[in-house]
Amino acid sequence: MESKSRVLVVGGGAIGGLLAWRLSHSTTHTVSLLCRSTYNQIKSHGIPITSLQYGNATYHPESLHRTIDDAIAHATSFDYILVTLKALPNIYDSSEVISKAVGPGTMILLFQNGIGVEEPFLKRFGKGNPVVSCVSFVSVCKENREEEGGRLGGWRLRHGGFTMVVAGFANEQHTNEDLQKLHNLFAEFQRSGGIDCSIKSDIQVYRWQKQILNGSTNPVSVLSRLSCQEMVRHKRYRRMLEDVMAEIFAVAESVIKGKLPGTNGIVDPPAAISYIEGIEAPVYTSMLEDSLNKRHMETEVILKNPIDLAEKHGVAVPHMRALYESLLKIEQAYEK
Ligand SMILES: *[C@@H]1O[C@H](CO)[C@@H](O)[C@H](O)[C@H]1NC(C)=O
Ligand SMILES: *[C@@H]1O[C@H](CO)[C@@H](O)[C@H](O)[C@H]1NC(C)=O
Repeated sequence: MESKSRVLVVGGGAIGGLLAWRLSHSTTHTVSLLCRSTYNQIKSHGIPITSLQYGNATYHPESLHRTIDDAIAHATSFDYILVTLKALPNIYDSSEVISKAVGPGTMILLFQNGIGVEEPFLKRFGKGNPVVSCVSFVSVCKENREEEGGRLGGWRLRHGGFTMVVAGFANEQHTNEDLQKLHNLFAEFQRSGGIDCSIKSDIQVYRWQKQILNGSTNPVSVLSRLSCQEMVRHKRYRRMLEDVMAEIFAVAESVIKGKLPGTNGIVDPPAAISYIEGIEAPVYTSMLEDSLNKRHMETEVILKNPIDLAEKHGVAVPHMRALYESLLKIEQAYEK
């Protein structure tokens, strides 16, 4: 009998929890979940999830670990590592966090937001291991459970009605075996987890498409402290969003050397604004949540890396620069 494929999910946040939960239904793949700050809660209570798409459940990970050493003591090698850590290259190197668990042939899949998240992984592993850049289009967030009288404590995952993952190799070259291996995992996500996954040759296009919404709404919401819907109804913040979106379109089109094709009808800033207007439930960005909780924000991958690319391609991005400086100041003020 063939042995099961071993998958390690690194990061017990919203997307990590969701991916591990969906794959936990598999009979051909085993899932280990590594989470540092959320370990105690998950160990004692599991992860409570409310999902429009998959129904409500409490996920109790079969194999849960607090450190990478625990994880490798449990399984000597992994076929796949899914990285769902926040991308904070100015604070820690995510590629270093996982390095002990990466063996020959381990495929590394990055589920991190922003631009340029592949670089540290390619530098460390790109010669020997396939590195896959994944972009998830999913509405999932951690939600406080205080409203239940504090009795249950902690948080739960709130997931919407839609999950889609697109992915592509970040290495310059990959083999047919690599492609088959990625296909096998995605087929299992589809079969046992009901997650729609596809493999693309132009993955950076999808990263930039996501960046149009997230690269604009995230930083502006830190200043406005408003939901995405409230911002587009506010004259000055709406204008600011449009200006940032126009800059992201310009950088993206210089980087990919062509027109950014639309997803969800998002072909220009006005279309992106109407897309946000059409989302019913209020969306609070992850950067706003981070800033309210005085946690590090993903300023480098959401703003700094795109600004550096803009500079390289001679594209002016004054709004992005101003937002970047403002967010750095806001973070510095945390300590005071
Ligand atoms: C799932 O949980 C949410 C929040 O508690 C609740 O509103 C919803 O009705 C539940 N759905 C089902 C199918 O039980
Ligand atoms: C990215 O933007 C979409 C659409 O506004 C939103 O659903 C999602 O939560 C955002 N992700 C983050 C990390 O802010």
